[in-house]
Amino acid sequence: MNIIDIIAKKRDKKILDQEEIEYFVNEYTKGNITDYQASALIMAIYINGMDYEETKNLTIAMAHSGEILDLSDISDVIIDKHSTGGVGDKITLIVMPIIATFGIPVAKMSGRGLGITGGTVDKLESIPGYKTDISIEEFKNNIKKIGISLIGQTKELAPADKKLYALRDVIACVDNIPLIASSIMSKKIAAGANKLVLEVTCGSGAFMKTQEEAEKLSYVMTKIGELAGIEIVCVITNMDEPIGRNVGNSLEIEEAVKALKGNMEEDVQEIVLTISAYILKLAGISNDIEENKKKVLENIKSGRAYEKFKELVATQYGDISYLENIKKARYVNPVKADKKGYVKKLNAEVIGQVSVALGAGRLKKEDSIDYTAGIVLEKKIGDKVDIGDILAYIHYNKDIESNKAIENVIRAYEIAEEEPEKYRHILKIM
Ligand code: URA
Repeated sequence: MNIIDIIAKKRDKKILDQEEIEYFVNEYTKGNITDYQASALIMAIYINGMDYEETKNLTIAMAHSGEILDLSDISDVIIDKHSTGGVGDKITLIVMPIIATFGIPVAKMSGRGLGITGGTVDKLESIPGYKTDISIEEFKNNIKKIGISLIGQTKELAPADKKLYALRDVIACVDNIPLIASSIMSKKIAAGANKLVLEVTCGSGAFMKTQEEAEKLSYVMTKIGELAGIEIVCVITNMDEPIGRNVGNSLEIEEAVKALKGNMEEDVQEIVLTISAYILKLAGISNDIEENKKKVLENIKSGRAYEKFKELVATQYGDISYLENIKKARYVNPVKADKKGYVKKLNAEVIGQVSVALGAGRLKKEDSIDYTAGIVLEKKIGDKVDIGDILAYIHYNKDIESNKAIENVIRAYEIAEEEPEKYRHILKIM
């Protein structure tokens, strides 16, 4: 078997068998297949697709590229949550500490920024000292000791996804059901949780542009989860406009801290409460979703959720004093409205692209992230706007064409005379 034949087979729209998929994953993880060969195969998969059997085999091979954790000595119920990606999506940072306040163990492996979407690993690493690449032993000990750990893929856990994820990000091969399903589910299988809520985003700022595609992705991930003994609930969310106000790594940490202290934007609150309530249901706390939402609000109001977040940050070597004094970018420029009316649309894809251009994302694997770069949205869908009102602020440090960024942010806003219909944040629970 060799990689050239495997690439040719997928290029010619044929089905790859289990052995070929395992060969690719294992040899690429070991470094025996080059990035350019892996890029060719991933692009062929992106263009020609994979059926369910191939997607399942890819997921299992990727999960087994490292260790598969058994956390049954910690608890019968281990919780995880994952987003398929979005612009301004800081929901994981808020939900996970909340769940840990209920004494339910949380074992979560996240990823870095991907395409126009931010990643939890980059956001956490914007906190000075925070380590996302701790050992398996430390990951397990933290879950035992404080009830929560949030890490990234490591050399020991899901190493194939660590490499493929970084590669897909810079070869325009992100928005693809088999590649997303295998990436997410391989991490989930490796990290050892047995109950999982997936936040499946759809809309302009998501990889799935329509609800139909989001449902298809949910179906594939749920089926793979069943096979691996993971109980899954999918919450399909609307990603036509960014979530919350802040887009960019440290800006999103700032918004998550505010939310954990009880100061949540309406959309953030609705998504946080819904996802948390379904997690509590999976964990056996109560089947009453509205009751669970009230319990979640209590644990935020009491300060327990923010305390748990600080405990998580401190345990993973982060500087908790930074959470009260988050660094800002050198330049902060306003973006002003040139039209009056109501915000009818706020294109999350364009906001994500501007955010990457300001420095919040990567164009090459080796690129470093500018943590303080990003956008703060002052106006969102439904808000009234007058000419000259501030729509948003762009935050940046590097020498960029700020006028271009400002023009693009204005382009993301559609302002109409009529007040728009109410924007729905939660589209479906599956
Ligand atoms: N999140 C992941 O972990 N992988 C993807 O491919 C997309 C979102």
